[in-house]
Amino acid sequence: MFGRIAPRYDLLNHLLSLNIDRYWRARAVKRVSAHLSTPGTRVLDLCCGTGDLMLALQRRSQAIVYGSDFCHPMLVAAHRKVEQRRMRGALFEADALNLPVADSSIDLITMAFGFRNLANYQQGLSELMRVLAPGGRAVILEFSTPPNAVLSRLYDYYSRAILPVIGGWISGSREAYSYLPESVRKFPGALELADQMRDAGFTNVRFERMTAGIVALHLGERPG
Ligand SMILES: C[S@@+](CC[C@H](N)C(=O)[O-])C[C@H]1O[C@@H](n2cnc3c(N)ncnc32)[C@H](O)[C@@H]1O
Repeated sequence: MFGRIAPRYDLLNHLLSLNIDRYWRARAVKRVSAHLSTPGTRVLDLCCGTGDLMLALQRRSQAIVYGSDFCHPMLVAAHRKVEQRRMRGALFEADALNLPVADSSIDLITMAFGFRNLANYQQGLSELMRVLAPGGRAVILEFSTPPNAVLSRLYDYYSRAILPVIGGWISGSREAYSYLPESVRKFPGALELADQMRDAGFTNVRFERMTAGIVALHLGERPG
């Protein structure tokens, strides 16, 4: 499914979010700017897709930022951007549930709009915990449900009735853009995800809602 939409993925992201997706990723980068300015920090952007977050992290970092995804066409698009912008950035193909990465080897893990798609959230969180170094930080940017009932209904209407039509029309895969609202509906709310992070052993867990709660930015740390 992700392979089918890869060629139009960026265009649709910006169009369907009215370009607000750039702001969501920029805010995630801002939250970890202290980590990024520390030379030698090892950063891994999981479920990197076409690489927008990975490249935004790299722009503000002295470190090499690794990007990984299990969808080859997404990685090809990411690779093209890395080359075009003459940036550093190492990409590898892997399942986020079973990473070919050594224990305790990463200082900062980011994940934008990828976590929701994992087949098993507990396994995903314990894999993050495994590869993070003690004191390392995980940042999960994900869709959420607006807490306000009126906004929630409006957003629900947009994502069920409008988004699949535009997404299907431009990408050629209506199924993929019907999956998006479905997966958001099935995804735990921000409070529940924060609890799951604590259960997985993360400390200093917190989240901030953005854009009326359509998106939430979750932060947690592996105990030092
Ligand atoms: C909605 S896209 C997000 C891409 C990018 N992070 C962004 O901000 O636009 C979700 C990405 O997660 C990837 N993905 C989903 N499940 C995955 C898994 N188990 N392992 C690795 N990548 C996965 C998909 O291939 C896709 O590229």
